[in-house]
Amino acid sequence: MERTLVLLKPDAVQRHLIGPILTRFEQKGLKLVGLKLRCFPLETIQQHYSDHASKPFYRNLVGFMTSGPVVAMAFDGRDAIPVVRALVGATNAREAAPGTIRGDFGMSFSNNMVHASDSPGAAAKELELFFGEPDDLIDWEPVDLGWSYNIEEELS
Ligand code: CMP
Repeated sequence: MERTLVLLKPDAVQRHLIGPILTRFEQKGLKLVGLKLRCFPLETIQQHYSDHASKPFYRNLVGFMTSGPVVAMAFDGRDAIPVVRALVGATNAREAAPGTIRGDFGMSFSNNMVHASDSPGAAAKELELFFGEPDDLIDWEPVDLGWSYNIEEELS
């Protein structure tokens, strides 16, 4: 099982897309284990995007991500990191394939609605940053687990 971080950016919140986007992840069979709606502090966003600090778009990106509420979510699933990235689609929403979240809901490179961890290392750091407090993450067992997966072949 893998755990990954997803952020619904301020454009997704302002455009009333929290429900439709969360539905994509739920319907896929990913397990929601953390959920927060917050205006995250500047320092949190700066730390989250520290790898991009030298890029020309960094200032705008940090300004955008602190411009309003963001939804942070954590999901569990077999291969959850690549599965979530595939659901989200290409970074530039204009080029994202139809059927992906960005491909279906957006037209922008910068305002691309969703961030998703791109590797196990990034997921570990990002989960610690956004869900690092005790009780931030909930361990629970969905009753349909044995229908979403073949438990013997895929989860043991
Ligand atoms: P995200 O997956 O959150 O990771 C970095 C973000 O920077 C990216 O999505 C885009 O929203 C934003 N961004 C804006 N301009 C660029 C760019 N030219 N190249 C890459 N990312 C960009």
